[in-house]
Amino acid sequence: MNSARMIFKYWLKSRKFFILEFIFLLFSTICYTLTPIFIGRMVGVLDPYLPVSANITGVLFNFFMVLLFALLRYFFNRLARLKGAEVSSRAVYHLRDDISNAIYRQTFSYFDKTETGQLISRATSDIEETQQIFGMGLTLGLQSTLQISGITFGFFIFSFDLSFILLVAIFISFMLSYYIAKKLKPIFLETRDSFGDLTNTIRENIVGTQVVRMFSTQNKELQKFKKNNDRFYKASVNSVKYNSLYMPSIYIVMGFLMISTLFIGGSRFINGTLNLDTIIILLSYVAALGFPLMVLGQIMLVYIQADAALTRVRDVLNSSPDIKDVPDAIPITKMKGEIEFNNISFGYTQDHRILKNISFTVPAGKKLAILGTTGSGKSTIINLIPRFYEANEGTIKIDKRDIRKYILKDLRKNIGIVSQETFLFNKSIAENISYGKDNASKEEIIEAAKIADLHDFIITLPKKYDSIVGERGTRLSGGQKQRLSIARALLIKPKILILDDSTSSVDVETEYNIQQALTRIMKGITSIIITQRISTIRGADYIIILDRGRVVGYGTHDELISSNVLYKQIYETLYQKQKSKIKIEEIE
Ligand SMILES: Nc1ncnc2c1ncn2[C@@H]1O[C@H](COP(=O)(O)OP(=O)(O)OP(=O)(O)O)[C@@H](O)[C@H]1O
Ligand SMILES: [Mg+2]
Repeated sequence: MNSARMIFKYWLKSRKFFILEFIFLLFSTICYTLTPIFIGRMVGVLDPYLPVSANITGVLFNFFMVLLFALLRYFFNRLARLKGAEVSSRAVYHLRDDISNAIYRQTFSYFDKTETGQLISRATSDIEETQQIFGMGLTLGLQSTLQISGITFGFFIFSFDLSFILLVAIFISFMLSYYIAKKLKPIFLETRDSFGDLTNTIRENIVGTQVVRMFSTQNKELQKFKKNNDRFYKASVNSVKYNSLYMPSIYIVMGFLMISTLFIGGSRFINGTLNLDTIIILLSYVAALGFPLMVLGQIMLVYIQADAALTRVRDVLNSSPDIKDVPDAIPITKMKGEIEFNNISFGYTQDHRILKNISFTVPAGKKLAILGTTGSGKSTIINLIPRFYEANEGTIKIDKRDIRKYILKDLRKNIGIVSQETFLFNKSIAENISYGKDNASKEEIIEAAKIADLHDFIITLPKKYDSIVGERGTRLSGGQKQRLSIARALLIKPKILILDDSTSSVDVETEYNIQQALTRIMKGITSIIITQRISTIRGADYIIILDRGRVVGYGTHDELISSNVLYKQIYETLYQKQKSKIKIEEIE
């Protein structure tokens, strides 16, 4: 779909107002096109053979007609603009709605390849950029097109052959604006892109402010910002260079048209083949043509500008998510929680496999621990279970059915994830804990906080559960953030609970408390825990050892310790490191 069709599609979302506006504009154009006739008639009625009073009456009559049509034009124009405002505001409203829906619909892999700053600028400033074409394009664009058509029609009626000069003038103006528009399109695309990069730089500087200050790289960052700002500035100036060509060129075309009409019309008047009032009518038409021609040229520029923005917006709207429900997706009424990986291979990109032939089963209600070096693919494995990414080969089954067969929303509703990097919303603690469940009761929230060993801390805060956590949870410590996200995952009472290193930033005692509480509530919950903690590993029913995307050990602790050399090595290293901490647990 090109931008023009897209603009029409959004205008037609308020079809009724659009049609009303068109009708009012049509009336206003009729008034506009009739006016020159009465101007011409003011001269035409003059007749030296009639008494002076008759002459005055004739002139006055036509004068009042001109006035009347001007008033009518004002009236219809105002009505048209009111309707037009409705149409254009609604169009932008729907567009904004559609782009945010499109962004929410996207999958993880989309965000992996798209910069946040570019996305934000598409959803904000690009939409802003289209506002003008939706508004001005509609009322003025439609009005000018109607006016030019009306004037051409009038010209044809009063002087058939002269109207060809008019057509040449209109044609030249259109070619001019087409030429300028073609030159401007890449420049406008560059302005939009550089603006997106500008947004991205600012965003990264704000989000990463700690890193920037820590390494004192403000100057480097400023340079980066300046470079993008320069790009934006140059593209903007460049656009004016072509933009400013249009108006003066139109003046020349109009001058040429005026002189030709005067010259040819004048000669015919002398020949006696054309009346003076017809010449005046034609000249008034030429004068009336200037304004709509200029407006149309201007709108062409606004359109090209909007086209650049809309092309970027369409990019988001048209990228349909690669992970979605199959047509006959099955709802999940009650999940048991058995998980089975069957020969799974996966890569974030086509040419690089991160997971290779992974197979394992976790029976419902059992606990699996995943052990492996950094980058071995532990987090990647768990990303596949809620279908954040789709495996390239193999199948993942839950309760003996391929996860791709389930309704995605149902699948995710049954899985609680505490990911490695916690994200919190700038809301209250209670709102963050209950994020996954609307209208969760106060008791449920407190219960979840207690299991996550966070309740005792929360009640020391002045506003308790109503305390705001700050953007991304900046007002909480690393461990508190993790515990909050554990509480958030628990509140939805998932059938499958996934903890990705989630207790790494909490101290041994807290971890122990959480583990104890989790063990209590985890009855009947299948859990997958990525961990380095010996106590957790030993408490697991099954253990997987992952090495560069392959399973190199799978079994219970007792099986592995006696048969798997690698496991034995890892276990002993971890044991040495955590010896002192384990004592605490054993004392308990
Ligand atoms: N979104 C992504 N796009 C491309 N590659 C990725 C992405 N996420 C992870 N990877 C790559 O996949 C590999 C496995 O990453 P993964 O996060 O699963 O490791 P991990 O075992 O969880 O490591 P850690 O213990 O450090 O958390 C890494 O080499 C990483 O570079
Ligand atoms: Mg990880």
